[in-house]
Amino acid sequence: MKQKTIFFCTDCGNEAPKWSGQCAACGAWNTVVEQPSYTKPKSGSSAGRSMGGSRSGGSARAPGNRPGELRSLDTSAEMRFSTGFCELDRVLGGGAVLGSLVLVGGAPGIGKSTLLLQICGLVGNSKVLYVSGEESERQIKMRAERLGVQGGGVFVLAETEINEILSSASELSPDILIIDSIQTLYNPDLTTSPGSVGQVKDCTMSLLRLSKDKGVTVFLVGHVNKEGAIAGPKVLEHMVDCVLYFEGERSMNYRILRAAKNRYGSTNEIGVFEMLDTGLHEVMNPSEMLLSGRPEMTPGTCVTCVIEGTRPILAEIQALVTPSSANMPRRNSNGIEYNRAMMLLAVLQQRGGLRVGGCDAYINVIGGLSLDDPGADLATVLALASAYKDKPLRGDAAVFGEVGLTGELRQVSQVNQRLTEIARLGFKSCIMPGRQKNKLQTPDGLKLVHVNNINEAIKAAILE
Ligand SMILES: Nc1ncnc2c1ncn2[C@@H]1O[C@H](COP(=O)(O)OP(=O)(O)OP(=O)(O)O)[C@@H](O)[C@H]1O
Ligand SMILES: [Mg+2]
Repeated sequence: MKQKTIFFCTDCGNEAPKWSGQCAACGAWNTVVEQPSYTKPKSGSSAGRSMGGSRSGGSARAPGNRPGELRSLDTSAEMRFSTGFCELDRVLGGGAVLGSLVLVGGAPGIGKSTLLLQICGLVGNSKVLYVSGEESERQIKMRAERLGVQGGGVFVLAETEINEILSSASELSPDILIIDSIQTLYNPDLTTSPGSVGQVKDCTMSLLRLSKDKGVTVFLVGHVNKEGAIAGPKVLEHMVDCVLYFEGERSMNYRILRAAKNRYGSTNEIGVFEMLDTGLHEVMNPSEMLLSGRPEMTPGTCVTCVIEGTRPILAEIQALVTPSSANMPRRNSNGIEYNRAMMLLAVLQQRGGLRVGGCDAYINVIGGLSLDDPGADLATVLALASAYKDKPLRGDAAVFGEVGLTGELRQVSQVNQRLTEIARLGFKSCIMPGRQKNKLQTPDGLKLVHVNNINEAIKAAILE
């Protein structure tokens, strides 16, 4: 009998009955591949795919598993624990939640395995099982030695078969289980290959049951696709409690950890790390790090203060504006969204009266940071204006404010927090929008310069 096959997209996991060059769901080209369809799991196997009320894997209701009244549930015991990295704890919403499933995604070589191996050494008295499908036990040991991870309470296993992993986990009963990576795991009851939609879903479901039933905190590493989203089915992100992305420029040492989904905390927080040969080190004062080595009295650089989560961070925005030799001027923006940058260039041309329309323009946020706070608008405009005029900005000033289409400056949130951070880093003045609704608490020694539109801001900031 001919074996049935299905087609699925390796990027988003969409399944289709026939092949096509472009995925109908996500629009990616040449990502649809053919796979044999699932075989029926043997009855009673641990590979049951439905969550439908069964917690023991079989269809019978587990004895004693009855609905409990919310108010009578006991939460007096500590539900969170520290991972040893304050930055990671903050992104998780104040520590990892017991029995949660955390997915860590990121580009190849960004440091996912490093981060999780370092956690093994930092969690102290907890028992950790580190399962790798990508490295052998000895390779893990070699890396652990480089990172200075002490091996007490840390067990390593190089394995990719999910049932073996589950039985090792139930034998050892660890507090934390680390899986590096989910795409390498497979269930032999399914005929599809590791990394396929069925396998990834099935293995994650088994791990989900383990974490919820036994209270094991599970960290999963997930590979990312070309666009930077976690590879495999979207449902993977729905199944887990928390999705973290580890980002950064490979050529730079800074790494930023961001939550894309968090059932137990805010998704606005970021964690900043520095990658050294001894592993990842937390950066407690990102502002200082981002401003170190800043050129002084040079055209085309401006410092702003943005709010990332609950934390104010100072960032340096640089711009280069040169007369274009092409019919279509070149525009490039790193760290500021491209369309936003183009809008700011248009405002500068039309409302600021600077003829930047025929120029090539390049914008870059130092440190590989990407800013989506509109408070960074004014700094982008001033960096561009300073680069165009080839005149430096006042070196002792930091700026923030949102720029509107008429060139007006609009107030932003959390002004007092921004002012405190600007003063802490030693700036003497701050150029900011005029009308502020809330009462300002001006830190000592900081002079506020209120401006209403970009023309006033350019006059106040650029040294002629
Ligand atoms: N001896 C070393 N000195 C300095 N940095 C190193 C050293 N060894 C590794 N690194 C850093 O660690 C990074 C690799 O980290 P890691 O293996 O944790 O990444 P990963 O995200 O797990 O990658 P993959 O997806 O391939 O598994 C390298 O890109 C490099 O920056
Ligand atoms: Mg790795």
